[in-house]
This record gives sequence, C-alpha cells and structure tokens, in this order.
Amino acid sequence: MQYFDTDPVRLSADGRSIIIIDQRSLPNEVVYTGLTEAKAMYDAIKTLAVRGAPCIGIFAAYCVYVRSLYTPDEQLDKALGEFCEYLDSSRPTAVNLSWALGIMREQLGASQALPADSRRELLKQKAIQIHQSDIDTCRRIAEYGLSLVKEGDGIITHCNAGALATSRLGTGLGPLLLAAERGIKLRPYVDETRPLLQGARLTAFELERAGLAPTLICDNMAAYVMSRGLAQAVFIGADRIAANGDIANKIGSLSLAVNAKHFGVPFYVFAPGSTIDRSCKCGADIEIEQRDGNEIKSLYFARPIAPEGVACLNPAFDVVPAELITAMITEDGIFRAPFEF
Ligand code: MRU
Repeated sequence: MQYFDTDPVRLSADGRSIIIIDQRSLPNEVVYTGLTEAKAMYDAIKTLAVRGAPCIGIFAAYCVYVRSLYTPDEQLDKALGEFCEYLDSSRPTAVNLSWALGIMREQLGASQALPADSRRELLKQKAIQIHQSDIDTCRRIAEYGLSLVKEGDGIITHCNAGALATSRLGTGLGPLLLAAERGIKLRPYVDETRPLLQGARLTAFELERAGLAPTLICDNMAAYVMSRGLAQAVFIGADRIAANGDIANKIGSLSLAVNAKHFGVPFYVFAPGSTIDRSCKCGADIEIEQRDGNEIKSLYFARPIAPEGVACLNPAFDVVPAELITAMITEDGIFRAPFEF
C-alpha cells in the first residue's frame, strides 16, 4: 500500500525538476511543488517543506542530479561541488543529508573521464538507487518492528517518522503502517510534537489515511498515558546515531525516553543503517540545530501566544543516551545494548 499519490520527493515526468509534497501545507492541503533552483532547494530543507532524515537525503541526491542539468559541461565538478556544500549547510543534525551528498560527490569524482551527459545519467541512476534502497530498507525495518508488538498494543509516536519522512512505510511508523496493511489493530498515541507539530500535522494525517484511528495527545500527556498503562511501547526515528548508541532525534525524544524508563515502557528507535555516524563517538559530538523562537511564539497560532520580546530557546533535536534505549531497529535486525556500532 502507498499512502500518498507519490513519494514525498520524486523526479518530474520530464525528469528536469524535483516534485515535492510541501509538508508545510499539511494536513490542510496536499501541495506538490516543482523545484529546479539551488536556493529553492536549500529553502525547502531549511523551512521543512522537505523534512525527516531519510527523505532529506533522498531529496539532496535528486537535487544534485537536477542541478547537473542546468550546469554547463565544463563546470560540472566545480559548480556541483559548491552546490553540495551549500545544501549541506541547510540543516546540521540529520546525517542522511551529508551521507547522500557524499555518495553523489563520490559518483561525480569517479566519472571525470566520461562525457558530461554520461556523468549526468550516472548521477540520476545513483539518486534513484538511494531512493529505491530506502523503500526496501523501510519495509525491512517495519517487519522487524512489527515483531516487537502484539494486537491491541498502545504505541506512543513522536514527530513524524512515516512515509513523509522517508519513502513509503517510514521507520518509526513502519510497523504501524505494516500492521494496517495486514489488518492488525494497534492503538497509536500521536504526540503533537511542539513547536512544529509534525506529530499532529503529519503523523496523525498519515495514520488516519492508513485507517489506524490515531489518538492525538499533547507532548506533556505522554507520562499520563504511560502511567495509566495505555502504552506498551514508544516508537521513534533518529536523525543521527553515535557509535556508542546515543541518538539524536526530534526535541522531546529525551523526555519521552525518561518517562518510558520510569514507567517500564520499552523505548524503540527505528532508523536505516545510513543514520549511524561512526565518526561521532557519543551524543555530545552531535551538532544540535537551533531554530528561530518565532516557531514557539507565533507560527501555527492565529495570534502570538507569548510577549513579543520574550527570549526563546528552540533546539530542534535532543540526544537520548543509549542506556534509555530498549532496542534499535535497522534493516539488519533488532539490536539491544550494549550498542557498539
Ligand atoms: O525536523 P524534522 O521534522 O526533520 O525532524 C524529523 C525527526 O526528528 C524524525 O523523527 C527523524 O528525522 C527520523 S525520520 C524517519
């Protein structure tokens, strides 16, 4: 089953632009936008029109290919190298962005002896390969994840780790969407995920479309849900996994993990192997993106909800230490502590 008319990013029919689902308009409208310009691509990541770690990686790979179509033959190496650096500077935390750009740069470097059009074709094939492999990876993650729960279980989700954040099934939402495909009933508790509301806007939307009847909660209700025995697991994604098993994920993941530990609820992290960054020894090495305070104070509200001048701290991610993680699920299986990547 596919939950959208297309994946959240894909090549246009003529292959000369990238079509994205603009995730800022969801759930009210499903808007498809075509991109060809470098600045528009950068802004799409920066403003979260395209978001979710694996999806950002897939998008970046297609961006490099599309930009190659608008770059003169003799400037391919220099211009695309600069473009990769520019795109990589859009958001720092999800490793999938630099991972995918690294693969595209490697492909470019390896094809220098070939005619320009053959080089462009190889970039296209590489981007398609990254995309296809994510679809397969998500399905494998979902199969492993589904084995961790049973019919009727309550699952707390955070942010959006579904089709919109990847392609097709997603990571953290994969087991839930697979359960829907198989008619297995689960009870998702979707936390809204302040301040950008990816849970309320995107996860609730995806799970409803899949027929899973999610229950929306505010972020500060998770402990209540756990204390009443309503949740049997927490399922989240990851933006970067350090070698020691610490993970960075959407802000609020840490407080969910602390609550889960307190109430004895298993805390599961789902991510493709490409999210493991062995150059980060531990969570403290992961750069955390800081965003504008207006996301807390006014975006998504009809009127500002705080004094205009009040200072805000708005980290987009936090780090969950490995000791709070029950298991990590990748396309290669279910891994339990000690995590040694
Ligand atoms: O800021 P976002 O919406 O890009 O953050 C997304 C998340 O934190 C997801 O949980 C993570 O990327 C994993 S998505 C499969």
